[in-house]
Amino acid sequence: MNGSYEGLEGEWHDLFWEAEEAPDEICLLREFLEGKEGECLYVGSGSGRLLGPLVEAGFEVLGLEVSGEMISMSRERWPEAKVIEGAWQQHEGSYDRIIIPAFTFQLFEDPEKQLKRLREQAEELYVTLFFPWAELSGELPENEWYFDRAIELEDGEVGELETRHRLKESAGSLVRRHRYRYKNDKGEVLKEEETEQKLRFFTDAGLKGMLKRTGWEVVKEVDLGENYGDGVVYVATLFLKGAY
Ligand SMILES: C[S@@+](CC[C@H](N)C(=O)[O-])C[C@H]1O[C@@H](n2cnc3c(N)ncnc32)[C@H](O)[C@@H]1O
Repeated sequence: MNGSYEGLEGEWHDLFWEAEEAPDEICLLREFLEGKEGECLYVGSGSGRLLGPLVEAGFEVLGLEVSGEMISMSRERWPEAKVIEGAWQQHEGSYDRIIIPAFTFQLFEDPEKQLKRLREQAEELYVTLFFPWAELSGELPENEWYFDRAIELEDGEVGELETRHRLKESAGSLVRRHRYRYKNDKGEVLKEEETEQKLRFFTDAGLKGMLKRTGWEVVKEVDLGENYGDGVVYVATLFLKGAY
């Protein structure tokens, strides 16, 4: 399934996330959940990076995750956090609220259909989205491998990530190929794995139109990205509630 995190991509997910200095969503998630009763589903709960601390803080959140490998990590580190295995698209259920942090929603095909389905499943929704400005502006080269990030592992070993992307701006589609390399302290490659992810992205007006058509009203919008002073929002979190 598109976007199921396996192998090195899964194992190194949290380390790369940290290395990227991506915005920490835990405070926003807490704000969204604070003082509310009822059931909450976390779609794409991964290694438990955010789910674990939420459960530890006393929030009643149930994880749903498609990758068995991610679930194993989550259960090992946060045994008290419940996680169901499966793809959200096949998951039936109704909840008071659903949370989808960290761009997972953008891995789903046909976003409008999915927003409608989310509206059928819940009264409130938390979703974080990114806008691929570096790709769109040409800052990152298209159809060419480029160095993305590296992480330091134990004993001088290194995890390297190279990326290559294709963009279809009019269709709001970004395909990213990732090449993960596990190297020892001499720089020899011990393991190499490639993955591909198809992501959807939206203009502000496109997103707002889609939310309106699918019965969602924006309660709060937080710009989580770096501030380049150009008015473009790179990462945004939305708190949504059913409009009817
Ligand atoms: C970008 S990672 C984010 C993980 C976690 N939310 C975090 O912030 O640490 C996306 C996660 O969603 C999972 N995923 C992708 N598609 C899914 C689907 N259709 N249903 C359930 N989980 C999915 C992936 O396996 C991966 O663990």
